[in-house]
Formats: sequence, C-alpha cells, structure tokens
Amino acid sequence: MRRTIIAGNWKMNKDHIEGAALAREIAAGLARTPPSCDVVLIPPFTSLPAVTEAIRGSIAKAGAQDISAEDEGAFTGEISGRMLRALGCAYVLVGHSERRHIVGEGAELLARKLRAALRSGLAPVYCVGELLGERESGAAGEVVSRQIREGCEGLAPEEFSRVVVAYEPVWAIGTGRTATPKDASDMHGSIRRLIGTLFGAAAAAETPLLYGGSVKPESAPGLLADPEIDGLLVGGASLASDSFLAIVPR
Ligand code: 13P
Repeated sequence: MRRTIIAGNWKMNKDHIEGAALAREIAAGLARTPPSCDVVLIPPFTSLPAVTEAIRGSIAKAGAQDISAEDEGAFTGEISGRMLRALGCAYVLVGHSERRHIVGEGAELLARKLRAALRSGLAPVYCVGELLGERESGAAGEVVSRQIREGCEGLAPEEFSRVVVAYEPVWAIGTGRTATPKDASDMHGSIRRLIGTLFGAAAAAETPLLYGGSVKPESAPGLLADPEIDGLLVGGASLASDSFLAIVPR
C-alpha cells in the first residue's frame, strides 16, 4: 500500500513569521488526517526553523525546496543536506520546473542533487514535467522518461526506494489549468512502467507518484481518487490554511 503524500510548496512566499503562523494553523487542522497520509510543508529555507518548531507534535513534516549537490565546503550561498536534516527536514524537492527553467539547472546537476539528498538521509521529491509545446507536439512521454532516466538511472534499487516522483506538467503550474485526472493518470502509468524497467517490479509498485499543477480543493478529490495518483504537490493553494487543509484527506 503506497502512502498518500500531500505537499505544499510555498515557493518564494512567506517570511519566517508569516510561515510560522501558517504552519501552526495547518498543524492544528490535521487532527483527523489518517496515519497513512504524509502532510509536508515546504517553505523557503529561512522559514524552516520556525516551521519545524510550529509543526512539532503534529503529523506534519517539513521539506526544503532545494539542496546543494555538495556536502560541505566553499560553496557560497548553498545549503547542504546535512543542514536540512539537522533542522528536521524529511523531504527535499529536486528539479522543480522553476529551477529547471528559470534558474537553469541542468540534468547533470539535478542527478547530483538527488544523490546528495539520498546521502544525507532525505527523501528526494524528484520533479518532472513537459512544457506546453512538448505536450502539443506529442513529446510529453518522451520528455518525462528522459528526465526520470537522467535523474535516477544508475541508482541502486535500495537507493531508489527512497525517491518520490512528482509529475508537474509545466503548462499546468500557476496557470489555473490542471491536467485532467486521465492525463495525469496516463503519465503516472508510463512513469511506473519505466520505474519497473529500471528498478524492478517492487520499486514500480511502491514508489509514490505525486501530481502537481494548479491543484485546488475542487480538483484534488478527482485526482486523488485515481489509483495511479498517490498524492499532490500543491503551490498556490498551499499558501492559506483553509485551502490547503481542504485538500488534505480526512
Ligand atoms: P501551483 O499549484 O501554484 O500551480 O504550483 C504547482 C507547483 O509548482 C508545486 O510545486
């Protein structure tokens, strides 16, 4: 049985005071969340200490939005996996489309970040997804398989067992345009088949596959009802406790 994961990616929103207040409201609303569901708050780095403190004693977990590919040393501005673990982070995003397409992070760097996350004991949430033009030209499946191979190929099956994959079609992020449950489910099915080819049947059966892209309280139940969709990576709707809590199963 795969766990359900509902993760809120706050992106570059909320300072640490606003973040602590939001995290406290969310934590207080999770009393009836089933134990099979992981709720993950992913604030900016500067809010992580306040958010981890605010969710202490609740079922919520913390995640980071990025990680250095390096473990320690002269890498100005970078944050290591060990530092994130020391703050109590359990998850870290790797390869979010905003880092791929706005910051310009490439496949080789992302593969190293994914390995840095595994080395430090974090569960990487490896994000993949096609651009609008790639979907329209019929290349979505190919783009997503390439991204999975670039990031994960070569991992030992026991390493891959800690990876979570998030499918976020870039055309659906922040646009109000959600993929239909069928589009998401079809892509998740192909991702799962590829995971089976690369890492075996157990990995294919056990890897949680999240969908992200304009998820709202109205669209969440339809997406979560699909057996191929194990959870959601929520952007805009995770910035207010009422809309985020309305997405979390209870
Ligand atoms: P939105 O939910 O705002 O479209 O963002 C999705 C996303 O990028 C989550 O990582």
